[in-house]
Amino acid sequence: MLIVIGLKDMRNENGVGKIKILNLYSGIGGNRKLWTPEGNEHEITAIEINPEIAEIYQYFFPNDKVIIADAHQFLLEHFEEYDFIWSSPPCPTHSRLNFLNNNKGEQGQEPKYPDMRLYEEIIFLKYWFKGKWVVENVVSYYPYLIEPFRYNSHYFWSNFYIGNSKDTKRYIREHLSELEMSDEYKNIKIKNKEQIINNAVKPETGLYIFNAAFKIKQNTVGDFLSPKGESLIAINQN
Ligand SMILES: C[S@@+](CC[C@H](N)C(=O)[O-])C[C@H]1O[C@@H](n2cnc3c(N)ncnc32)[C@H](O)[C@@H]1O
Repeated sequence: MLIVIGLKDMRNENGVGKIKILNLYSGIGGNRKLWTPEGNEHEITAIEINPEIAEIYQYFFPNDKVIIADAHQFLLEHFEEYDFIWSSPPCPTHSRLNFLNNNKGEQGQEPKYPDMRLYEEIIFLKYWFKGKWVVENVVSYYPYLIEPFRYNSHYFWSNFYIGNSKDTKRYIREHLSELEMSDEYKNIKIKNKEQIINNAVKPETGLYIFNAAFKIKQNTVGDFLSPKGESLIAINQN
């Protein structure tokens, strides 16, 4: 479903009108970085609980509305106001790496329940939200409870086709060095800078998902796997 708000809407080069987007658990906006090459093609609201991280996001995306709030509660109260919702709930309690480290006692952490806000949001969006939505998370240490797409080492649950790709290393180093080189990055002063960047979705992955939601022609032909792991060549559905 392509949503166009009013006849006067600007059409960008992909023929998509201005979209009202809710970017939940926005971090510094890795997923969102390539959605607006001009900076303001869409109307984006970002929700982030950490004020320092929210400030960095706002610095990167001055045209976005940034709200410091609990994304889980915000979703419940405001979902109907948007056309497209992206959610990246916290992943530490689902992550294979944390699970292994904790089991080895390396981080000295107590056992934790997996944070079920992840599945709460998937079910909520699936049954209540009429627009396009995607929930992103890590590949979990336990078998998924609802089948996701598995793309570039993330799990994605959505109401549009994404496809499955071979796992990658999430491009963490590549990602870091790209940002470390930029002037924007050098101006950022925050503790755990590496961790915060590490949490970011690779911008190209964020763009791929966005384009898949609105059936924008993708430029890349990937080496995809079917959900059962058989290799197949596919182009995003057009
Ligand atoms: C995995 S990161 C998001 C990465 C982001 N999607 C990107 O691509 O850059 C998760 C973010 O959620 C934030 N966060 C954690 N709990 C939150 C909550 N209850 N409400 C809003 N933000 C929250 C964290 O501070 C962190 O920045």
